Formats: sequence, C-alpha cells, structure tokens
Amino acid sequence: MALPQPVAPSTPPLARPPRPADANPPASDSPCGTRAAALPGLAAMAGLVGRTPMLALDMRVRGRRRRVHAKAEYLNLTGSIKDRMALHVLGQAVERGELRPGDTIAEATSGNTGISVCAVGRALGCEVEIFMPDWLSRERMALIGSFGARLRLVSREEGGFLGAIGLTQALAASHPRVYLPRQFDNTANVDAHALGTGPEILAQLASVGLAPRAFVAGVGTGGTVMGVGRALRAAHPGVRVHPLEPAESPTLSTGHKVGSHRIQGISDEFVPAICRLAELDAPIAVHDGDAILMAQRLARELGLGVGISSGANLLGALMAQDRLDDDSVVVTILCDDNKKYLSTDLMRDEPLRAGYLSPQVELLGYEVIAAPGKVDAARSL
Ligand SMILES: Cc1ncc(COP(=O)(O)O)c(C=O)c1O
Repeated sequence: MALPQPVAPSTPPLARPPRPADANPPASDSPCGTRAAALPGLAAMAGLVGRTPMLALDMRVRGRRRRVHAKAEYLNLTGSIKDRMALHVLGQAVERGELRPGDTIAEATSGNTGISVCAVGRALGCEVEIFMPDWLSRERMALIGSFGARLRLVSREEGGFLGAIGLTQALAASHPRVYLPRQFDNTANVDAHALGTGPEILAQLASVGLAPRAFVAGVGTGGTVMGVGRALRAAHPGVRVHPLEPAESPTLSTGHKVGSHRIQGISDEFVPAICRLAELDAPIAVHDGDAILMAQRLARELGLGVGISSGANLLGALMAQDRLDDDSVVVTILCDDNKKYLSTDLMRDEPLRAGYLSPQVELLGYEVIAAPGKVDAARSL
C-alpha cells in the first residue's frame, strides 16, 4: 500500500446549526467534561464523542462465573477513546485563545490520537501535522492522510517516539501559530477522563446498583488511567487503579524502554510525565500474544470487533479481579475497534504459549448498560 501523500488541508470548517437549548447540556454534563460543546466548530461533533455504552461481559474462568465491566470506547467518532482527549484539549486551547482557525496543530502519536486530532482539528479549520513512528499500522497512516493532514513518519534511527516529540517541538520553535497539544505532558488529557469517562463509569455502575472496586487501563499517555482513577477514587477512595503494560516491554515497571511489543497505542518507550505511578496501584503485565488471542475471540465469539489493547485490558481486568474476589466490580476500557489492525497480527493465526490466560477464559455474552443521558432505543420501541 502506498503511503498517503501529504495534503494541505483546504476545507473550511463546516458551519454547524446551533443546537436546540434543551439538547445543549451545561458544561459539567458535557460528554468530555469540556465546554467544547459550546464552541461553534465543535458543537455538533461533541455530540458524537463520549457517553458510550458500558458492557457487562460475562465469562467463565477456570470453571467460575466472572463479570467484567468495559466501556465501549470504540463507538466514539473516529473509533477510539482518544476522541475525548482531542476534543477536550483542543476545545480548551480555543477557549483560551491559544488556537485559532488557520493555525497548525502538531502532535506526536502512535496513531489514534493523530486520527482524533485530525478530526477535531479539521472541524476547527486548522491544519494538522502528525509525527508518527514508522512501524505502526498502515491503516493509521492512511486514515491520517484521509483527513487531509500532513504525516511525517519517524524511523527508529531518527529516535522513534521521542524523536517524533522532538520534531513537533522543533516545528513549533521555528513557526508561529503552531499549537502543540502535548498529550504526554498536558494535564488536560487527564482532565478529559476525570471529567468525562470517569463520571460516566460511576453513573452507569450506579444505574445498576454497583460501585467500582478496581479499574485497569493500558498506558499510552496515561491520561485514561490517571483521569478515570481520579474520578473513581473521589467517589470511592478504596478503588484500586492499575496501569497495564505489555509483558514484552515493561516500561512502567522498569522506568525505561525495554524490548518490543505488538499492543499498539500503549507503552510508547518512556513513562509519560502525566502518568504518576506513585499514585497508582501495581502495574499489570499482559503478553501481547495473549492480548491478540483475547481480542480475536471477542470478535469471533461475541461479535465485538476490538483492537489489541482492548484484549489486553480485558485480561488485565481479570487479573485485577483475581487479586480481589470473583464478584468484585472491575472496570476497563475497550479502547478502539479492529479496523486499524487489518494489516497486523490481529488478523493472523496467533500461537498459544504457556502462561497465557485467554485459553482459560470462556466468553459467555454481555449485557449493555446504556450511556448516561442516552435513550434506550430497545426499551422505547
Ligand atoms: C489503542 C489504544 N489503547 C490504549 C491507549 C492508551 O490511552 P492513554 O493514552 O489514555 O493512556 C491508546 C492511546 O493512544 C490507544 O491508542
């Protein structure tokens, strides 16, 4: 497949009709915890991000019934949880006057953030320039190109992920009107989940009479685990909050880049500044092959076509539950869907290895806990 050619964005932002007053929630009710919903370029888009359903996934593990709760974040606008962060961070930058139409947004990303920044940035009338390691999936590259963004691939020799971050900084230093979301350092990334994802989880669990005992999420920037963790602990101080990392590349446990892995979107070679491990419980490690097998089975057996980090998160949630009791409420995230992995090992036969957890998991089915504020279409029929 040919790489997408850099294309200068040319489409002006779409004029959006104002929302009716009763459909326009106040800031605190906004899906991503931001006033982005009130910004002209983002008003309609904000209705397509957040307020995702929660799945209560039923399993049998080593003969015992288990249930894990997972937010269906692949249902966001561009198919990943990163839409929440992009909408919040860029909306806040517009509000503060740091970002205006015509500016360039430059970000280093392992893909999903790039795609989300493209979608939100284009709606704001901005140009987007994405710096991405060259070993990530071709689908990510093509999608970024499809939004009319410029894509700069960074090889391992050029520094990989850290090299990509350095290139965004060099661009901002040499050009006026370049805005850097800086997802690895920006606490607004954490806020997006503390104000959006976390409160949604609490509301959905409460709607069925439950409270969380633990939360598990793979760490890319750490925005999800830190932000959701903050919201859950504010309501239930004893909640365990576990960051998750690939067993093949345990950067969180060791503090530096080690090995390589196939769980795209997490463990990007360093511990991000916003990921404050001292505030979290112990990292959970999942083998990338195990994560692939679990994600494949979610598609084949339940019809849930999710990405590799979602398989990892489900296994990690079961490991966290192992440390509590079988009935404890453990929540995790289905971060993205499987379409960005068509060219990866997710679509190939994956060998079973000793020590994997997925072969011990029998998937039984799931119930849907409707998104807060969303009409339950099935019940209203
Ligand atoms: C597929 C996938 N899973 C998990 C994550 C981790 O999310 P966070 O950056 O909030 O830690 C990302 C982040 O890009 C991702 O793309």
